[in-house]
Amino acid sequence: MHNEKTIPVHLVEEPATAQYSNPQTSFPQAWVFVEISKNVNTKKPVTKKLFAQDVVVYRSESGKVAVIDPHCPHFGAHFGHGGTVNGELLECPFHGFKFNSEGQCTNSSAKHCLAEDKTVYHYPTIERDGYIFCYYDAEKKQPDWQIPTFELEGYVQLLSPFQQSSPGHPWEHIVNNIDYLHFKKIHKTTQFPEVIQEPSIDGHRVEACVIATQGNTRYKLRSQYLGLGILNQDFQLLNFDIKAKFLTFFSPTDKNTLNISTHIYVQASKSKILPYAFLVNLLKSVFYKMIIMNNRDEYRVMKNKYYYNFGEHGLTQGEDHIKDIEAWAQNYYALSGVEK
Ligand code: FES
Ligand SMILES: [Fe+2]
Repeated sequence: MHNEKTIPVHLVEEPATAQYSNPQTSFPQAWVFVEISKNVNTKKPVTKKLFAQDVVVYRSESGKVAVIDPHCPHFGAHFGHGGTVNGELLECPFHGFKFNSEGQCTNSSAKHCLAEDKTVYHYPTIERDGYIFCYYDAEKKQPDWQIPTFELEGYVQLLSPFQQSSPGHPWEHIVNNIDYLHFKKIHKTTQFPEVIQEPSIDGHRVEACVIATQGNTRYKLRSQYLGLGILNQDFQLLNFDIKAKFLTFFSPTDKNTLNISTHIYVQASKSKILPYAFLVNLLKSVFYKMIIMNNRDEYRVMKNKYYYNFGEHGLTQGEDHIKDIEAWAQNYYALSGVEK
């Protein structure tokens, strides 16, 4: 049985006081997390805030998920407020026009059909391992890469993802992950972490690996960024046969605010001493405490810090790797083009 204890999903409730040197005026090109698959059924479209507007998510009868701009091209009704799914079609709540998965109006009477260029924009969408993502590009370019599987086989998911609305931009969180000097102060590691793999860029991925010690615990953390929106981390407690996976998604809700959600999975070998269900519940509780402890202080900083623009902040000796990653991240703002 799951341990259904109440978990605070918001780690820091205080209002944000962040300031910006140069507030972002565009969103980066990225695959962006929209919603958990099980929250989108074939009955009712779901509305989410992303990219400083609403997006609507729905699932057709055949199971295909679509993420779309919210307003009907006829008279502007919002599909998330009264829209319905009919088989493979989405029906508008105002005049009942139906739209297919290409966003085209498919009313049976040609007389009442919209012109071909009056379509509903469908974001490129992927459903991966229980999560729905859409691809953002300001000029609506199609993605030239897909999100790989997160390889969750053998893992048990902890209940309730952690969620936090935070000022900032996706790229700052990539830099934060390879900013090893903050581990000791914020994450309470005994020493600065030992770098096993220097951050390396491979196309749309950045990979890095460290070993760190926290109290009596020594762990290995392998991080993989998939563009600017997705962080896939493999965590291993050394000396124990226990692994975890942290999936963290950075979804811009407006140009200077992110919805950050962390989804945690654990994996343990069957123990001869403890019943497996007990062991898993124990691990859930341990990992929740660990995540809270590790992130609360960090979010407090993120909510109240000064956000420098690319390349404006100071760096110490030994932080040169940060420059390369920032240049890689900055490129996604250029790639995304200019919003119209
Ligand atoms: S506004 Fe959608 S059908 Fe008229
Ligand atoms: Fe951190």
